[in-house]
Amino acid sequence: MTTKIIMDTDPGIDDAAALTMAINDPELDLKLITTVAGNVTVDKTTANALKIVNFFGKNDQIPVAGGAVAPLIKPFEDAARIHGESGMPGYDFGDDFGQPLAKTAVEALRDAIMAEDEVTLVPTGSYTNIALLFSQYPEVKSHIKQIVAMGGSISGGNMTSAAEFNVFTDPDAAKIMYNAGVPIVMVGLDVTLKALLTPASQEKLLEMGEAGKMLHDLVTHYNDGDDQDGHPMHDVNTIFYLLHPEAFTTKEMWIDVVTDGPAIGATVGDVRGAYHDGKVNAKVCVDIDAAAFNKWFLEEVAAMNK
Ligand code: RIB
Ligand code: CA
Repeated sequence: MTTKIIMDTDPGIDDAAALTMAINDPELDLKLITTVAGNVTVDKTTANALKIVNFFGKNDQIPVAGGAVAPLIKPFEDAARIHGESGMPGYDFGDDFGQPLAKTAVEALRDAIMAEDEVTLVPTGSYTNIALLFSQYPEVKSHIKQIVAMGGSISGGNMTSAAEFNVFTDPDAAKIMYNAGVPIVMVGLDVTLKALLTPASQEKLLEMGEAGKMLHDLVTHYNDGDDQDGHPMHDVNTIFYLLHPEAFTTKEMWIDVVTDGPAIGATVGDVRGAYHDGKVNAKVCVDIDAAAFNKWFLEEVAAMNK
């Protein structure tokens, strides 16, 4: 039995790798990709998602819908310094990679989710589309099995000392998502900064067909981490969690999102369960088997035969 998932993304190099795993793993049934402004503008993140779908010849099976051009309230700031101006530098995907759906991401999400009894939502960019969806179509919540979200941290940020990029980009949307009452697994920096794709793994990709070369070429243009210690493939950890939750240590707690002031975008975990009457709204990933992550990453790519 495959797991039906929808990915909301801002490709972005690590998003591209996460999409690659989701598209190719036989245990996952990727029903829809929606895109959001984040690493780069939404026209680019949408084109990049289409490039990955087209690379694997899935244009007729996996639709892409473009989403929010900006956060709900906070001014938009991209991460082109990390992911390059295009968002996916280093590999030539060609110029003919298909078109997105005519409908918006929110409409596409509503339609795709309501067509299923239960579906898993995997956001790997800011949560603007998710917040708009829950605000406009709250009836979708009962059809969502869980949200496995890359973002946040209970051990310090990567945009400020307090805030991680996806939550920092749209903290108001993150607050809506964490207060929506839908089961959430937080795959934050607490684990994604531990499971670096090592230089040795990076080089092995070159022995793994065109998919391996594509990922290698993207990762070697990725300015998060370095070629000495390795690169954090943040978003890929959501797919690794879905397929191998045993590789993670998790702790349930209430997560609050800070929406103003110098700590804006911080995700504050009630780690002792002392301040929310024992209520929790998230299962937070607090540790990961980094060696298992690298081994799995390479096995996934090797199995693609692309
Ligand atoms: O903080 C890491 C997150 O921000 C990842 O999703 C990466 O793609 C960027 O969007
Ligand atoms: Ca991302």
